[in-house]
Amino acid sequence: MAYVARIDRPADKAARYAEVEAEVLAVLDGEPNLTARMATVASMLADAFDHFFWTGFYVVAPDKADELAVGPYQGTLGCLRIAFGRGVCGTAAATRRTQIVEDVHAFPGHIACDSRSASEIVVPVLDSEGRLIAVFDVDATEPAAFDADDQVALERLMAKVFGRG
Ligand code: SME
Repeated sequence: MAYVARIDRPADKAARYAEVEAEVLAVLDGEPNLTARMATVASMLADAFDHFFWTGFYVVAPDKADELAVGPYQGTLGCLRIAFGRGVCGTAAATRRTQIVEDVHAFPGHIACDSRSASEIVVPVLDSEGRLIAVFDVDATEPAAFDADDQVALERLMAKVFGRG
């Protein structure tokens, strides 16, 4: 598969997301395994954007329904468990709403897995029945690295890969 050059200018962000989405869907065609799907999404998105410092999933824990356990990711060591309602990931899980945080140090209860993280976006991941199965978390070392364009693109990608499309 041919990979196009990295494009990090904001004006090209939507186009880059569209390209990565098409690549991810092509790679995952016919692959039902959830871990394989999550690992592929984390790897390909982390590779597509230079400023993605930590890129990956926190999965609803099978042993505790109100807790997230770290899933497939790219980046430095992530916390293993996050309770629903705690930090940015736990808030996204509890509210089922995407969280965009321009300054994580100002976010009440933010969990600092790596002090270099400065901003982040966390998107709820729903299955085809509309059940929450995970959240997808991207951290950057620059403040305010994510905006509504990232939200639209990532919510669409998660729906196509894990949900109703
Ligand atoms: N920042 C997250 C914790 C997870 S990591 O950054 C890998 C949070 O507050 O939910």
